Amino acid sequence: MALAEFLNTLDELAKQATAQFEAAADAVSLEAARVEFLGAKSGRLKDVQKGLGQVDKADKPAAGKRFNEVKQQLETLFSAATKRIANGGCVETASDFDPTIPGKRPVLGHLHPITQTIEELVDIMGRLGFTVAEGPEIEDLWHNFDALNIPLEHPARDPLDNFYLATAETMSGQNKTEPKWMLRSQTSTVQIRVMEKTQPPVRIISLGRVYRPDTADATHYPMFHQIEGLLIDRHVTMADLKSILRLFAESFFEDDVHVRFRPSFFPFTEPSVEVDMSWAGDWIEFGGAGMVDPNVLRAVGYDPEEVSGLAFGLGIERICMRRHGITDIREFYKNDVRFLHQF
Ligand code: DAH
Repeated sequence: MALAEFLNTLDELAKQATAQFEAAADAVSLEAARVEFLGAKSGRLKDVQKGLGQVDKADKPAAGKRFNEVKQQLETLFSAATKRIANGGCVETASDFDPTIPGKRPVLGHLHPITQTIEELVDIMGRLGFTVAEGPEIEDLWHNFDALNIPLEHPARDPLDNFYLATAETMSGQNKTEPKWMLRSQTSTVQIRVMEKTQPPVRIISLGRVYRPDTADATHYPMFHQIEGLLIDRHVTMADLKSILRLFAESFFEDDVHVRFRPSFFPFTEPSVEVDMSWAGDWIEFGGAGMVDPNVLRAVGYDPEEVSGLAFGLGIERICMRRHGITDIREFYKNDVRFLHQF
């Protein structure tokens, strides 16, 4: 046999064996490739070796040398493939792997600080017997105003202070009608929705977004969150209101929180108060509260002679900001992960 022919056969075999060793995806296919090419008895390399005897005498040294090189090369490839499969497909060789180097911590996402606060508030109020109620963010004027004892001429209904929704109806032609829908400006709407559907006693909280066309600054944002509370039963008093708010604040802020009521006015409560809280320093206003106005009870078909109620509405951003020492409400909604990842 001519040397060229022998070398051709050898190279062709090397090419096929290399491809198969590199492609082997698991131990079983690698072993099959090993038997096919490197098998001691009937492997294809063995067959080629037999052909060595027929090579012209003068070319034998060259043929033998090349044969040994290929054999060596295939054995190296085979052991690399064995390591690769043992490493779970990782090409890195075992010697590169240093088990003492600390691992890389995967970056996990987590809940937005406002969501975390909401979950905690739900948890605390749940322990005080309050269940969560929900209402729509697109609300009608009855639930946002009328049923809450906010009459037509009340300044709280000013279009400059509310996001009324333009609909085909309100926009059509000359006969523009009053708006029917708005983005709710307060979660007090949910009080009405719950009372319309249930009979006393009622003990709910509602947490969610509200909208007001305020210019964004450090303490204002056109969308923010409130937690609303409502308790209706026989003989509910202001004392209940104050104890509930105090228990709630002490659980959340984990401190000896004092609650102060300042006289105020809300159309849906009588009497009405602003709720301030204080611990380790100044008094901070968190929202409003009061005893549910008899007009509100009547609007949902309750008898004010039979039942009374307490209600409160607090700003969730404010609660969260105080908890974490955040000084600008806009930080919550910039979605800057450097800020968000701190909580
Ligand atoms: N809805 C009021 C606001 O957004 C807050 C509020 C005050 C809620 C008194 C109440 C309440 O339930 O009793 O400013």
